[in-house]
Amino acid sequence: MKGLKIVTIGGGSSYTPELVEGFIKRYKELPIRELWLVDIPDGKEKLEIVGELARRMVEKAGVPMAIHLTLNRREALKDADFVTTQIRVGLLDARAKDERIPLKFGVIGQETNGPGGLFKALRTVPVILDICKDIEELCPDAWLINFSNPAGLNTEAVLRYSNIRKVVGLCNLPIGMRMNVAELLNINVDRVHIDFAGLNHMVFGLNVYVDGIKVTDKVIDKMTSGEQTETVKNIPDFQWEPEFIRALGFLPCPYHRYYYQTSVMLEDQVEAYKKNGTRAEVVKKLEAELFELYKDPNLDVKPPQLEKRGGAYYSDAACNLIYSIYNDKRDIQTVNVRNNGAISGIPEDSAVEVNCVITKEGPKPIAVGNLPVPVRGLVQQIKSFERTAAEAAVTGDYHKALLAMTINPLVPSDAIAKQILDEMLEAHKDYLPQFKCLESADA
Ligand code: G6P
Repeated sequence: MKGLKIVTIGGGSSYTPELVEGFIKRYKELPIRELWLVDIPDGKEKLEIVGELARRMVEKAGVPMAIHLTLNRREALKDADFVTTQIRVGLLDARAKDERIPLKFGVIGQETNGPGGLFKALRTVPVILDICKDIEELCPDAWLINFSNPAGLNTEAVLRYSNIRKVVGLCNLPIGMRMNVAELLNINVDRVHIDFAGLNHMVFGLNVYVDGIKVTDKVIDKMTSGEQTETVKNIPDFQWEPEFIRALGFLPCPYHRYYYQTSVMLEDQVEAYKKNGTRAEVVKKLEAELFELYKDPNLDVKPPQLEKRGGAYYSDAACNLIYSIYNDKRDIQTVNVRNNGAISGIPEDSAVEVNCVITKEGPKPIAVGNLPVPVRGLVQQIKSFERTAAEAAVTGDYHKALLAMTINPLVPSDAIAKQILDEMLEAHKDYLPQFKCLESADA
């Protein structure tokens, strides 16, 4: 059997042991011959620590999966079958700025769909598009599976500004929401199906089923009677106003708290920032602890401490997807793909997060039609933000970036948008070579 070659860009990430664990669990039906972990020179030390742990995990499991570590992306990409991207351009220091600078202006940073997300996209999109060029040349048949945030916006940029068509954006939230419902109902997650539709971190669970029977109202009853369970580690579990959830009649995702509970979320971020720093700073400490654990030569499994990260279980999403594409499983998974008319009112060529049938030709989105009126506008607004932000990231056009910042629903005015934008452009200028407006006159 030939076996598969998988390349993980950003392989030195603290999340990699999750991915390795997922591949090991599925080895029989997903025979990965080579796993290449790629990183940049600044990430060399982490890459080696994670790579050694991956080798110990594979050895302990007794699977013949070769782990290759390299700083040479092009060498790794040659003839790959799947390429996964989990990069953080500017590392956690850049995330801290994304979260901190908007707070000075009384605005939530939010590193995916907020002002922070705009800047994460401005830094990340050009790098992802470079990776796409390498894929086109070195492994044109490979699937690109992106987990780098902002995952929806990055997928949008690949779909509209690269020649790569085999791209899927992934997130752990849909699996997390199913796990939550399972916990609320005290049943196994495999029995829960949710009709998801929307955008990344802007997805709604429109109908909930257990063993094929619709239980949306029952879940809403539980949620509104104070039985809510923990959602993701990076977002506080503020209770929803019960009457609001009943009026909505379906499930919001944890990120909707930024839009429907803006004032409490802002207060919470200001308080949390005073106490422990931004989430980036908290994660930095967590990462340092994780890498200390990873260094232990006796550790040969994924340590449970990794579950303190917001992206816990993302490898389940990734491994399930790769597994189903490879085996033409035709099961339903929730991923970010080209809309192709599945959700009315969102451009055909834009990325949406929606349930798809996963085939060997890739995910086929299941038609949703119109989103319910009360949420349609917000989803379209975030899509407009994403499209404008992607264009700004590709062109380096200051005015496009200003438009993206101003139309973001978390930003209260054009003047504040401009102040945040100008300060963030300056703070991130080392990672924004496409913005010619940042070049000094005498440079
Ligand atoms: C969530 C999101 C991910 C995100 C993560 C952040 O669950 O779905 O897209 O990357 O949390 O977690 P962190 O531990 O880095 O704050």
